[in-house]
Amino acid sequence: METQHNPFRFGGDLGAAEIVDRVEETAQVESTIRNGEKLFLIGPRRFGKTSILRAAQENLEASGAIVLRLNAEAYPSVEMLVEKIVSSAAVRLKGKVEIGIDQIGKFFSRLKPEFKLSGVEQELSVSIGIDTAAGSNRPVKALTDALDGLEKLALAQPNSRPVGLIVDEFQALVHLGGENAEAQIRSVIQEHRRVGYVFAGSQTRLMTDMTMNHDRPLYRLGSNRFIGPLPAADFEAHLLRQFKRSGFVVPNEEPIQLILSLAEHVPYNVQMLAHNCWEQLRGQSRSKPAKLTANLVEAVLRRTVDGLDPLFTQTWNRLTAVQQKTLIAVVRQGGVGMSSAETARSIRLSVSSVQSALRGLHDQSILRDDPAGGTVRMRFDDPFFAEWIRITVAGY
Ligand SMILES: Nc1ncnc2c1ncn2[C@@H]1O[C@H](COP(=O)(O)OP(=O)(O)OP(=O)(O)O)[C@@H](O)[C@H]1O
Ligand SMILES: [Mg+2]
Repeated sequence: METQHNPFRFGGDLGAAEIVDRVEETAQVESTIRNGEKLFLIGPRRFGKTSILRAAQENLEASGAIVLRLNAEAYPSVEMLVEKIVSSAAVRLKGKVEIGIDQIGKFFSRLKPEFKLSGVEQELSVSIGIDTAAGSNRPVKALTDALDGLEKLALAQPNSRPVGLIVDEFQALVHLGGENAEAQIRSVIQEHRRVGYVFAGSQTRLMTDMTMNHDRPLYRLGSNRFIGPLPAADFEAHLLRQFKRSGFVVPNEEPIQLILSLAEHVPYNVQMLAHNCWEQLRGQSRSKPAKLTANLVEAVLRRTVDGLDPLFTQTWNRLTAVQQKTLIAVVRQGGVGMSSAETARSIRLSVSSVQSALRGLHDQSILRDDPAGGTVRMRFDDPFFAEWIRITVAGY
């Protein structure tokens, strides 16, 4: 029986059932929270960090834990994030035990929270009082008060109930909170034994520096876990199974391996390409079973990249001429040897201009480092952008 819906999803975190592998990573997030420890989860964009966090949260909640998961990028100010911590703590706790709002307020009394129920759904929101004595440090002070409140709340729970705070895109919080946010966060949470903290971030260099550089306050506060690509064999098996289950013919491994290599094994891009191949097969004549071939995968990639043309054109036009030349060199050389004098000469630039262009491209999340075997290779965050440059600009 053919499946009617496309089994490949890209964008948005996956549910525990759709996730390929990541067993160890998910287990580490869970044990961090169960044991009241601290973990930094660091990985390139679109490798599946949020999916791991969500899967861990689902598993923990299924066994009775209280887990708050916030994306720091979603909040324009630290105060709003603090209000969210307090309101979600209240909602999660009320779901577990019959407890009055005023009792919950006591854990966070330093914030003078005011709870309000609004809308048809009677959604709980919180506004925090203003501690004018704290001056310009107020937002970060509110954050550390909220974390202390959470620890108090956790200590009031039975031992069998883990409490965890997961902050996704953690670097955004440090950015919002300003210079002393890192030191303040460290000084409060290093005392906490009951709440488990998981901080995830995608700007690899920034997150690595934050946790591995001994001049930075968060140095060795907890464990670091780097999120790498999915094991190729597992991902291949998953793709193959889904295509076959939908009634399509996959004559050999070649087209599946091609999907993975054209998407440079970036899970998001793999899923997008597989999704579009699936749609293509679906649209083919019904007289005989549709077949997944290498030619079809290549044609679909081309169409996928064409579809993203407005986006890529905009990104390209925002770059300086030096950055554009540098990207062309990255495409030509597969990201290898980018700091050499020879590379710089080939695009008529100085080594230092190439280096500063690379830094700029890195900061804009266009390129990332891929350290392997002692050398660092530059890769595109979005491998389809590299393909677009190959087709549109470099002319091959
Ligand atoms: N374990 C996995 N198995 C299969 N597909 C995955 C997996 N992890 C991620 N993906 C694919 O990558 C997409 C992005 O995943 P997710 O949002 O979890 O990544 P992320 O690292 O948090 O990304 P971002 O840097 O954009 O926040 C998913 O929608 C899915 O298509
Ligand atoms: Mg994410």
